[in-house]
Amino acid sequence: MRRGFFMGDDEHLDRALRLARLGRREAHPNPRVGAVVVAGGEVVGEGYHRGPGTPHAEAVALAQAGVRARGATLFVSLEPCCRYGRTGPCTEKIVAAGISRVVVGATDPNPAVDGRGLAALRAAGIETVVDDGDLHTLCELLNEPFSRFIREGLPFVTFKAAVSLDGKVAAAGGDARWISSTQSRRQVHRLRAAADAVMVGAGTVRRDDPLLTARDADGPDPVRVVVSRGGDLALDALVVQSARQTPTILLTETIDDAAARALGERGVEVVRAGGLREGLATLARRGLVEILFEGGPTLAAALLRDDLIDRFVVFVAPLVVGRGAPDLVAMAAPAAIADCLSLSDVVWTTAGPDIVCRGRVVKRGAAAIATSPTAETQALGQGADSLPSSAGPEWEG
Ligand SMILES: NC(=O)c1ccc[n+]([C@@H]2O[C@H](COP(=O)([O-])OP(=O)(O)OC[C@H]3O[C@@H](n4cnc5c(N)ncnc54)[C@H](OP(=O)(O)O)[C@@H]3O)[C@@H](O)[C@H]2O)c1
Repeated sequence: MRRGFFMGDDEHLDRALRLARLGRREAHPNPRVGAVVVAGGEVVGEGYHRGPGTPHAEAVALAQAGVRARGATLFVSLEPCCRYGRTGPCTEKIVAAGISRVVVGATDPNPAVDGRGLAALRAAGIETVVDDGDLHTLCELLNEPFSRFIREGLPFVTFKAAVSLDGKVAAAGGDARWISSTQSRRQVHRLRAAADAVMVGAGTVRRDDPLLTARDADGPDPVRVVVSRGGDLALDALVVQSARQTPTILLTETIDDAAARALGERGVEVVRAGGLREGLATLARRGLVEILFEGGPTLAAALLRDDLIDRFVVFVAPLVVGRGAPDLVAMAAPAAIADCLSLSDVVWTTAGPDIVCRGRVVKRGAAAIATSPTAETQALGQGADSLPSSAGPEWEG
């Protein structure tokens, strides 16, 4: 048994986490939080946060518990706030309700709160416990996009790709359908349904013309974002044709007015930004804080160079493509393995015949990471159907 933990605590904290997940899309730009009040082993109140201006999870659970909150334990997925925001500090409500013990999943990543909420509760004589097991990690993960946004004003970006055993994302002519199995593609649709936005480079749209919906998953379609420096997005692309059904954004540095107007008339929103970092910050401010990047090697390299990718999910298929085909990332290899980009907290799973590698980017923005706009990716960007055989430097992570 962990220090300060009682029998049944895990179960109630898990329930608080599940409640927090219900507010996944509504809570932004606030964190996702769930809370449960337990008196005499019985759940007497529960709730989750539904977004700015609405009561915090703790307040909802306490209101439901009423007088039964006196002497009860409050389980909350995230440290209660102690600030006077729109709804008043939760710590004061907890003290006023007579709660005697608070079990917290994770501390608040917001520097204005971090630790202070717990200190306020302890000062009022309330016993506090912070989970240090698996649930702690899960509670932190749930608000990772929020953490990235609150600390850096940027979205949390997951780079998803399907590669062959030799790390290629397409055949020499640019054909990528299908590298991974149907089981992998089903998982991708679930990843899409869990993201606020799915993002690709314009090269992928020009070559693959993807729809980028979550049609095989039981969830809403994410917003689609196409990134292009010059606003080169064809009016007959599927993402444009379906923009009235699924919100679609073209993130661009420049675009001529007539092209922007034509896209706008078809329901595409054109967002202008001075670069990738500025563009992503603009998306994050609009609530797109969890982005699944499904683009090709060129934009992947640019995002990595600018330190804008947080996590990889790579589906590795039992397939060998050979030389001359595009690599996972179009960047020059460093001289030494020690200088390569690497992943931490790596988890390997399977999806049908494929293996799936999930991990966090640990070396970002290293000087060694230089984009190499190889002839192959330039050709792909222009929709060429044959490629030079010189593959350029390999990147094998
Ligand atoms: N297997 C997989 O998982 C997978 C996934 C995606 C794609 N692919 C394959 O990859 C190939 C396409 O490769 P790609 O490298 O051309 O795709 P991409 O990286 O998705 O798109 C490249 C385009 O992104 C835009 N871009 C790049 N850097 C930028 C920056 N710094 N700022 C703004 N815009 C930027 C440019 O558009 P503009 O030229 O319009 O400025 C560039 O041409 C296709 O063969 C496709 O099948 C495979």
